[in-house]
Amino acid sequence: MSQIPPPPVMLHNIHEQPDVVRRSIALELDVPDWFFAAERITIVACGSSRHAALVAQEWIESLARVSVRVVDASQWCDRAVLMEPGTAVMAISQSGRTKDVLETLRQIESFQRKTSALPGAIGLKILSVVNEAGSPLGLRSDWTIVMPAGAEGAVAATKSFSAQLVILARLALMLAEAKGTLTPTQVQALRSDLFQLPDAMAQTLKRLEQRETARWVPESVVILGRGLHTAIALEGALKLKETCYVHAEGVGAGDFCHGPMAIVSPSLPIIALLPDERMRVDLTRFRSWGSPVMTIDRRDDAIGSGMGFSVESVADWLMPFVTVLPLQLLAYDWAVVKGLDVDQPRYLTKFIG
Ligand code: M6R
Repeated sequence: MSQIPPPPVMLHNIHEQPDVVRRSIALELDVPDWFFAAERITIVACGSSRHAALVAQEWIESLARVSVRVVDASQWCDRAVLMEPGTAVMAISQSGRTKDVLETLRQIESFQRKTSALPGAIGLKILSVVNEAGSPLGLRSDWTIVMPAGAEGAVAATKSFSAQLVILARLALMLAEAKGTLTPTQVQALRSDLFQLPDAMAQTLKRLEQRETARWVPESVVILGRGLHTAIALEGALKLKETCYVHAEGVGAGDFCHGPMAIVSPSLPIIALLPDERMRVDLTRFRSWGSPVMTIDRRDDAIGSGMGFSVESVADWLMPFVTVLPLQLLAYDWAVVKGLDVDQPRYLTKFIG
């Protein structure tokens, strides 16, 4: 008798996210004083972890008024990254084993060794956020936060991305409290926004179970986002590329009009994340040029184009947690239509060592 194969791990991970978020909200979060004393923060990460960092950049800068720079760890060696006194370094990595992140760490350590005896030595400290306790990154950092996502299994990061976002949102609030940029009451109100997430994500996933089965897979797709959702557009594009081998570009909706828009055509679907008024005007033009447009909208804002996904509404600053869900599922669906190994895409390994 033939056995029914187990469902792909990626699908399981996607559906586990409400629980992972619940656990990440409940996680006891110890953070050293030097992190709160930082005048600026440099975050190093790759892939999905870098996209989580881009969301955090916006949160930390707007809530705690601390300047944040996100450096792609794979480019650290190719750039003359300026290190200034008062900088806290954050390294974000699901595996804690990514070679580019570890190499960045090595360069920072060597910089420290060379400069520590000099007057005005910078004294950089590294706080890492990892999913694997005991991973090399965690062991080599001055402080490590281990997120409670659990083993991810599938190559595509999904639940670890959500766990990273929760930890980073909580760090942004703690920083805002320490810097006094928000009152305790304001921090409390924002903290309570987090508690909406597990249910909103579970309901969104439930609604998405009714999504239409994908019948065809395009060769290329563009995902447009604005503000926080520019990072989610990048994350969605990464999921599509690695899981179903669809060429996908995540672009800021404003930037798309500065040239890239010339690629609009009937064979290029455009996915727009939470389109606002300005974006809707552009989408009308793209439709008139023949482009199939899909939107990811709050449930109450879904417009009548008939194409797209609706997600539950949460506080504006937390919407990335729900807008990423349909993109993860789209990557999964398209991989299934193409008959691909969803959990183990060609050429890739879970961590790039
Ligand atoms: O383990 P890390 O978070 O350091 O991995 C970084 C990237 O290699 C990783 O996010 C990769 O892009 C994923 N496969 C994305 O789904």
